[in-house]
Amino acid sequence: MAIQRREQWSGRLGFVLAAVGSAVGLGNMWRFSYLTAENGGAAFVLLYVAMTALIGLPVLLAEFTVGRGARKSPIQALVHFGGTAWRPLGALFVASGFLILSYYSVIAGWTLRYSLVALVQGFGPQAAERFGEVATGWDAFGFHLGFMAITIAIVAGGVRKGIERTALIVMPTLFVVVAGIALYAVTLDGAAAGYRYYLQTDFGKLLSFEVLHQATGQAFFSLSLGMGAMLTFASYLSREHHLPNESLVVGGADFGVAFVAGLMVFPLIFALGLSQEVGESTVGALFITLPTAFGEMGMAGRVVGFVFFVALLVGALTSALSLLEVVVSSAIDAFGWPRMRAALVAGALIALLGVPSAWSTDILGVFDGIANNVLLITGALVLSIFVGWFMPDPMAEVSAGAEGVRWFFLWRTLLRFVVPIVLGVILVLGLPDTFVSIASLF
Ligand code: PHE
Repeated sequence: MAIQRREQWSGRLGFVLAAVGSAVGLGNMWRFSYLTAENGGAAFVLLYVAMTALIGLPVLLAEFTVGRGARKSPIQALVHFGGTAWRPLGALFVASGFLILSYYSVIAGWTLRYSLVALVQGFGPQAAERFGEVATGWDAFGFHLGFMAITIAIVAGGVRKGIERTALIVMPTLFVVVAGIALYAVTLDGAAAGYRYYLQTDFGKLLSFEVLHQATGQAFFSLSLGMGAMLTFASYLSREHHLPNESLVVGGADFGVAFVAGLMVFPLIFALGLSQEVGESTVGALFITLPTAFGEMGMAGRVVGFVFFVALLVGALTSALSLLEVVVSSAIDAFGWPRMRAALVAGALIALLGVPSAWSTDILGVFDGIANNVLLITGALVLSIFVGWFMPDPMAEVSAGAEGVRWFFLWRTLLRFVVPIVLGVILVLGLPDTFVSIASLF
């Protein structure tokens, strides 16, 4: 058998931007802001940061360690370190990638559509009614297919020429755009009310399990954890990389963009007095209220609206690349397929699985709930147990390239005890809600 050299990132910047590209996506620009506004404002932000530091970063470092150590796609990486008993965990990762990308791409399709609307005709006052047309049926399916086609084409291009190159161009642009709109928003009349709504502090909310559950699920989704995306990206790294530093940079950038995105969204909404409409649906703030706001702002609204939805689109795109890469790299390793075939077959199946989400936002919501509350948390839980208790020598793997670091012992302790206990409790207590949401479909 011919041994093919595994592809590698061109260097640190390429890897970090690709990983940040995976992390920064719809979760940052859309879900983080409304979760914060609904769940105690600044208090929620603190809880989120705490969960990210205590649970998220250790798991991120664990994924990096397994991926770089094995230099294989998730299933084979787990088998490499743990034997075939761990194959099901890898399979769970791949299944999660399938499911998440299938609905994520439907939402991304809406942003593709809105970018084009802003460019071609601007937003009219009837944005709310239009959302009904845009969000479901053949319309939604068409744009979902369009988005999948772009994703497939880039992943087929390879790690360096496809994924890395896209991240190098798109991510810096995205940072500038989000910061730029947030600064512009400061000048708007309703800005102060928007900030107040976003960050008004209610520590009382932190006492509810629901809020803890949301903060944890969001931390995992936002950092792309629990389904092997970060593991797969790290498998294209060499051993000189300082994994703890890379984890901190990725975690910090992910939080930074999420936080600033809230500073951009709420002033825009409040400037036009549309605040009553925010709470109505989870997608409401982004896809109904904001276009209405842009529509009322004349030419400025059209320009800001276009830039805004393009930022959202490219954020979603770099995340989608990592989701597809998990499935594609697994297919390449398992079946020996060329990358092009793997990307086409996996992409086509995922596009098909998107059909229910394209026809019903309720189904989309349930898929999202299952992914966040069950799949990602289970994946991260089992992975932390694996690295904490079963992987042969995780300390040697993690410290390659990071020889001076003294707190790996703390990392391993978190993975052994704190992460599994917290995630186990959250998983079990959260199951009833998930069942209720599934049952509500019937
Ligand atoms: N992190 C991405 C976001 O915030 C979503 C994602 C989840 C991407 C899991 C890859 C894996 O939008």
